[in-house]
Amino acid sequence: MAKRTLIINGSPRPRGNTATLIAELKKTLEGEVVEVSAFRNKIASCVDCRSCATTAKCVVRDDMDIIYADDFDNVVIATPVWFGTMPGPMLEILSRFQPQHAAMFFLDIPRGISPKKAGLILTAGSKKNEQNSMHHIRCLFSMLNARGYEGYEVITNNTDEVPASEDEAALAAARRLGEYLNEDWPEDADLRDLWDVKRGRA
Ligand SMILES: Cc1cc2nc3c(=O)[nH]c(=O)nc-3n(C[C@H](O)[C@H](O)[C@H](O)COP(=O)(O)O)c2cc1C
Repeated sequence: MAKRTLIINGSPRPRGNTATLIAELKKTLEGEVVEVSAFRNKIASCVDCRSCATTAKCVVRDDMDIIYADDFDNVVIATPVWFGTMPGPMLEILSRFQPQHAAMFFLDIPRGISPKKAGLILTAGSKKNEQNSMHHIRCLFSMLNARGYEGYEVITNNTDEVPASEDEAALAAARRLGEYLNEDWPEDADLRDLWDVKRGRA
């Protein structure tokens, strides 16, 4: 069945390395694609108003509602590495998952987020430190209840010297990621909520 894929694009550059690999992914990715740009969509940072501590809902209405709609089969995080993590607007998106934190830790109720297949596109200017950003990326996947990106990562580094458009391995990996996201989960896939499992509720 055709899938619905959310791509969260963390690059401000419309024709940059991340954009190149997203375009390559789209050559094989089927179904409907919704793209949220951390820089161009309007998504405010959490302001710690604490409403969610009692309701598990965010009171701020902006383009985060596209992500909150939670009606995707797949989610792709596509981002450059900035100072060893994701660019600030990506971290602002991450901050807006505080209602889930409230559900899980303050209210101790299921967060009710549907399971998704995860895909990762990561670009870095230098050669060695792209892995430093993985802490926040894993955190974002966890908030999206997305899993299964391992083995299908699309990573290009050294873009200061070689742009993604010339990284044949990364371009091939992007096309392979599209094919992977088109596939259904295997019959025996464990789709229990990752946090319910961690919290011993599942
Ligand atoms: C503010 C800023 C911080 C950056 N920090 C890092 C970094 O910590 N490590 C790294 O390898 N590259 C870093 N880079 C380089 C980008 O990761 C690299 O140019 C990337 O390919 C940009 O992707 P884009 O063209 O899709 O925007 C940084 C770039 C900027 C503008």
